[in-house]
Amino acid sequence: MKNLVIVDHPLIRRDLSTLRDRRTERGRFRTTLRRISSLIAFEVTKDLHLKPRVLRTPLEETTGHSVSEDIVFLPVLRAGLGMAEGFLDFLPEAKVGHIGLYRDEETLKPINYYSKFPKNLKRSLIFVLDPMLATGGSATAAISFIKEKGGRKIRLVSVVAAPEGVKKVSSRHRDVKIYAAALDRRLNSKGYILPGLGDAGDRTFGTD
Ligand code: PRP
Ligand code: URA
Repeated sequence: MKNLVIVDHPLIRRDLSTLRDRRTERGRFRTTLRRISSLIAFEVTKDLHLKPRVLRTPLEETTGHSVSEDIVFLPVLRAGLGMAEGFLDFLPEAKVGHIGLYRDEETLKPINYYSKFPKNLKRSLIFVLDPMLATGGSATAAISFIKEKGGRKIRLVSVVAAPEGVKKVSSRHRDVKIYAAALDRRLNSKGYILPGLGDAGDRTFGTD
């Protein structure tokens, strides 16, 4: 699991518990997913490259900073959308691509139904956002697709990861660092993470 970084903070643990709690209703689930994503974003962007920027305060000229890298957020539909909002709270100028994947309920294999990416993926630092890394099929497929379109600098950001998913992504994409708020125990026979938080897309959008 050397590609995996667990992002730990008291507020992340608190929010993760709210997400896990089956009594958390849709509105609170959504706002909590957005906030925990911002907290995670703070950590996973801490090595962003900056360039100097000369500016004037009300008193004098000084040198500040601006982000020098092209940033792309790439939420995996649907559940990744809730994370994108939290990341955009920090970096509203980032470009956003979308990739639509769902797991076939029988085979658990990802089915791709949509994609729209910004140009110049090759030069960009890309954050793939998906709260659940279960079998790893969706994340592996999403990253392969991004690489086919030219993406090179890719990080995968999840909220809850299963060991099975971390292993799969790490073996297929050794260059991709994986960030998550928690590494859970295992998958159940239907491919759900234990203890997990249930179906993130359904809980976010009320389709359960
Ligand atoms: C969920 C989740 C991930 C995927 C993870 O999406 O948001 O994309 O499952 O599972 P995996 O690691 O085994 O591929 P889902 O297929 O439920 O689609 P949805 O977000 O549209 O509900
Ligand atoms: N997708 C989810 O939303 N939850 C899981 O536990 C596994 C896959």
